[in-house]
Amino acid sequence: MALNSGPSPGDGPYYENRGYQPENLYSLPPPGAPSPYAAYPGLYYASQVPQYGPRVPTHVSTPAVRLQPESSSGPACSSKSKKVLCVTLALGAVLIGAAAAAVLIWRFMGRECSVSGMECGSSGTCISPSYWCDGISQCPTGEDEIQCVRLYGPNFILQVYSAQGKSWHPVCQDDWNDSYGRVACRYIGYKNSFYSSQGVHDDTGATSYMKLNASAGSGDLYKKLYLSDVCPSKTVVALRCIDCGVSSAAHLQSRIVGGDAAAPGDWPWQVSLHVQGVHVCGGSIVTPEWIVTAAHCVEEPLSNPRYWAVFAGILQQSLMFYGKGYRVEKVISHPNYDSKTKNNDIALMKLQVPLTFNDKIRPVCLPNPGLMLEPTQPCWISGWGSTYEKGKTSNVLNAAMVPLIEPSKCNSKSVYNHLITPAMICAGYLQGNIDSCQGDSGGPLVTWKNSIWWLIGDTSWGSGCAKPNRPGVYGNMTVFIDWIYQQMRANS
Ligand code: ARG
Repeated sequence: MALNSGPSPGDGPYYENRGYQPENLYSLPPPGAPSPYAAYPGLYYASQVPQYGPRVPTHVSTPAVRLQPESSSGPACSSKSKKVLCVTLALGAVLIGAAAAAVLIWRFMGRECSVSGMECGSSGTCISPSYWCDGISQCPTGEDEIQCVRLYGPNFILQVYSAQGKSWHPVCQDDWNDSYGRVACRYIGYKNSFYSSQGVHDDTGATSYMKLNASAGSGDLYKKLYLSDVCPSKTVVALRCIDCGVSSAAHLQSRIVGGDAAAPGDWPWQVSLHVQGVHVCGGSIVTPEWIVTAAHCVEEPLSNPRYWAVFAGILQQSLMFYGKGYRVEKVISHPNYDSKTKNNDIALMKLQVPLTFNDKIRPVCLPNPGLMLEPTQPCWISGWGSTYEKGKTSNVLNAAMVPLIEPSKCNSKSVYNHLITPAMICAGYLQGNIDSCQGDSGGPLVTWKNSIWWLIGDTSWGSGCAKPNRPGVYGNMTVFIDWIYQQMRANS
């Protein structure tokens, strides 16, 4: 869940992207401490993030030998009978010592991952963190070398994981150029997309940087980067891989829309997903070829890409009738999606032909880790879903402002009574009246921050529509980010 319960001094509680953040791995709670995800063992990020294997021995037996101290002991081991006893005792002691040592060694080895390394996926292989992101893959399937580059915070600060420093560090702007930016975007998951790379003042409070040594290494970017305490320019790389989050609806941030018909270009990332000429679900454009939607939209048999047609840049359903839409090449559902609980309700569609962007067709920004949201951050939902419960889908695209609802509130007895998992986020009004509804599923929940629009959720479920104490529930995009980029990298 994105709520950060440990508020930073002075600014109250906030939502924080809790995606893949390896530094967390090195400050694990003591074994047995409750994990925030303990209740959701099937969550993708709980299993996929390279983790310390909690391979504590299942039962540690202490030898049952109990030594009775000799009550009447003269000078030790003097008589013959005593000698026998002494030898026995000495042997026993040696045995106990050996057993204790064996137990200690066993424990130490069993926890090697948790003491000094990370586990490769769930293969059981442990590797030291100093091999993580060192440019050479040590894990059998290379888990130690994926996700070593990320964009952090609302300003897209490029960070690289340092095997040496065992944490993420911003990249110093010195000697950096656009062609390195392109490479970094490819590492993240943007196949051929690069928008801008800029040096900006570093406000992340970093004390060490990843610095470029252009002449080092061969082609590999990692091998050219080294950990340094100095960055002479005092500027770090802000990297934009795609011109996302731009809308003609920027004015909306000062105006509250409650279920209004959208104007062209207001929500240019919104798409309508059709099956046999009928609108079924919404979706959001994140790159020219990738659409984010809900996993429940593509349940069997609709996981077959042949069923789908994607309509972009059209506001009225009646006008889509005249088009063919974009064909889908792949449908990828979250591996831990649970159709009963709607946990991990996210899916990706890859288009056969990339979209061409214009004023009416544009991508929304995927949230970066470190993007902080207010507990009741204003967000916007859009879609062609019904305008009242049990109604039919709307011909025109509608949008409404809905504030986020704190997870603790949404999970309270009077609201959703513990049905909200960390992979979900609630938004709407406890008094009812404004909400998403049937047909809006898969569509965007976006927010405006730092002058751009970010995808915060995908419409997932709710009990009825717009009823009091039954707000809308959305997939919590922040926790899916690493999965999304991983799919984009693996299926490019
Ligand atoms: N599951 C619905 C769909 O398939 C979305 C429901 C959202 N409900 C709500 N009350 N916000 O379209």
